Amino acid sequence: MNKSFASDNWSGVCPEIMDALQQANLAHVEAYGEAGDPYTQSAIQKFKALLGDNISVFFVYNGTAANVLGVKHLLRSYHAVVSAKSAHLNEDECAAPEKFIGTKILEIETEDGKIRPEQVAPFLSSIGFQHHAQPRIISISQVTEKGTIYQPEEIKALADFAHGHDMFLHMDGARVSNAAVALGKEIRSFTTDVGVDVMSFGGTKNGMMFGEAVVFFNPELGKEFEYTRKQGMQLHSKMRFIAAQFDRFLTDELWKKNASHANKMADMLAARIRDFKRIKITQEVSANGVFVELPEAAIPKVQKDYFFHIWNENTHEVRLMCSWDTTKEDIEGFASVLEKAIEY
Ligand SMILES: Cc1ncc(COP(=O)(O)O)c(C=O)c1O
Repeated sequence: MNKSFASDNWSGVCPEIMDALQQANLAHVEAYGEAGDPYTQSAIQKFKALLGDNISVFFVYNGTAANVLGVKHLLRSYHAVVSAKSAHLNEDECAAPEKFIGTKILEIETEDGKIRPEQVAPFLSSIGFQHHAQPRIISISQVTEKGTIYQPEEIKALADFAHGHDMFLHMDGARVSNAAVALGKEIRSFTTDVGVDVMSFGGTKNGMMFGEAVVFFNPELGKEFEYTRKQGMQLHSKMRFIAAQFDRFLTDELWKKNASHANKMADMLAARIRDFKRIKITQEVSANGVFVELPEAAIPKVQKDYFFHIWNENTHEVRLMCSWDTTKEDIEGFASVLEKAIEY
């Protein structure tokens, strides 16, 4: 069976993580990530080594919950979140933020999935006006939903802007490892060091089976998050199985190895696609996604062999995602199917 380019969560679990799960399966361990669970304690220490000691870390099942609960913890129901229209939080969480937080999302149209302080500025006029929801969080995705990445100084500008207006900066880091590799920088250089307040730290899209982390960059902000998590139905009783995965993920830079591979494959895929003169790459290829406009008729033909998602029905833009297990042969196979599909 061919692999797909649908998403980096269509791939399986990388062998190192599978092995860590097997190892964690051998004994009885205290439930709920309590002090007697060595996997959870060790994974938290690894997060501290990566991001700095002044953080608090909580594991949850999935990325939607990491976003919704991380944001919820810092908001009252009359607060609003400012994000790109394309943000997963805004478009792909089935209005979970609206339901579970009661928050309003103030969306910004973007070409590249990135927002800038000057685009947030118009919302400030609502602050102090009792008839309007009060902007309280700026939420960005790193990597964005358009496959682009923020430079550390762009994130710092947003964090400074947020803090200057009594707001917080949230980062959806479902693909944070891919961003770090693309930037050639440590994750802390564009999170801890530039003023991010809370982030969702992704694992599932980079070789894990399941599990994401909510990281607060100031333990005061994360205070009592365990109650938000439990009420949010995301406290895993067999916590060790999320923790053991993260523990391995953050050992010997497995996160970097997997993300480097996926990014490299996306570069290779983009290079191969550039051979096709009729096909336009629509976004800068920064991490592990390639966004292209395909001839409409070719789309279902290629999807039969190598599935991918259509990103824009009007322009026939599609998203091709590479993963920790994408191979050169997958790319060549895709290219040959594409070549045949666009002949007709
Ligand atoms: C940018 C982004 N954030 C968060 C998520 C997390 O989603 P899930 O709840 O499916 O783990 C995804 C998954 O598609 C994503 O692409």
